[in-house]
Amino acid sequence: MIDVQRKPATSIDAVDFKDLPFGKVFSDHMLVCDYVDGQWGDVRIMPYEDVKFPLSLHALHYGQAAFEGMKAYRMLDGGVGLFRPEMNFQRLNKSARRLCMPEVPEEVFMKGLEELVRIDSKWVPKEEGTSLYIRPFLFSSSSFIAARPSEKYTFAIITSPVGPYYSGTVKVRVEQEYTRSAAGGIGFTKAAGNYGGAFFPTREAQNAGYTQILWTDHRDHRFIEESGTMNVMFRIGNTFRTPPLSDRILAGITRDSILTLLRSWNEVVEERPITVDELRYSAEHGYLQEAFGMGTAAVVSPITTIGFKDKEYDLAYDEAGYGQRIKKALGDIRSGASPDRWGWMQVLEGLD
Ligand code: COI
Repeated sequence: MIDVQRKPATSIDAVDFKDLPFGKVFSDHMLVCDYVDGQWGDVRIMPYEDVKFPLSLHALHYGQAAFEGMKAYRMLDGGVGLFRPEMNFQRLNKSARRLCMPEVPEEVFMKGLEELVRIDSKWVPKEEGTSLYIRPFLFSSSSFIAARPSEKYTFAIITSPVGPYYSGTVKVRVEQEYTRSAAGGIGFTKAAGNYGGAFFPTREAQNAGYTQILWTDHRDHRFIEESGTMNVMFRIGNTFRTPPLSDRILAGITRDSILTLLRSWNEVVEERPITVDELRYSAEHGYLQEAFGMGTAAVVSPITTIGFKDKEYDLAYDEAGYGQRIKKALGDIRSGASPDRWGWMQVLEGLD
């Protein structure tokens, strides 16, 4: 059962949809569901507003928290579609298991999500390159500071109309000191701490003139892993190369969709380890044609400079390159301009 309490008056008229800063404007409603005494309670949809919490809130101390990032798109016929939402549902529960949190029931996630987006469907923007970013998250909400798993948990969803995540192209530095994740760790989850832990190394890279980090493995920084908050793809010669999934790498839904798309175009795609030396050699000898990050927020983020320890290599940005072709192909599936041959879109029927 979903308990809906509607906001008396919408805030949508105060929003400039032509100028949307990423993740700073929130739609009228939010969803909350608590887990208490070993059971999930009712799903509540209520006006988006501040909540009160004690400073002993467990998640603040031990970071038992994970999130998802997903989007709803405005389609050409005026409808609204969610992109592969069941993948986010499954991945949140994968994170939950590893972080010792209870799994969110499918009914709570999927029905709750659909109802929330339905209620705020007017917030799904129409402008080119925009969407409604959806942030489901799960956190420990007991009020105690003993270092053991929480007893209470809260699952919530907030939504935010967004424009493009990065403006322009990306300059990355191959990381030689810090690591995002280690074998046996939580790199494959969307744990809040994976992101918090990346802020300091990222700021250092930014202070050195880069946009993001090209993460390398925890052992000796020999293998490429991810780029910033995204998976990474290289086109070396005519082969698309991305590192294979492991317990250190997030199983990106955009990554999976792009691999499917490229294979359907009969491109050669390889999920296998890429060493820093190989990447450098490819860049130095002109084999590296293209590089891009793949993620929900940015979709495809073209990398135009790769900085190694002592040398930088520039890659020409090609408007007609694969990055842009992929972005357009995904955009066309999401808008309904192309057939949804893999059944990725969950279209919300009967919106007013
Ligand atoms: C993504 O694009 O996949 C993200 O997780 C970005 C988010 C951290 C803003």
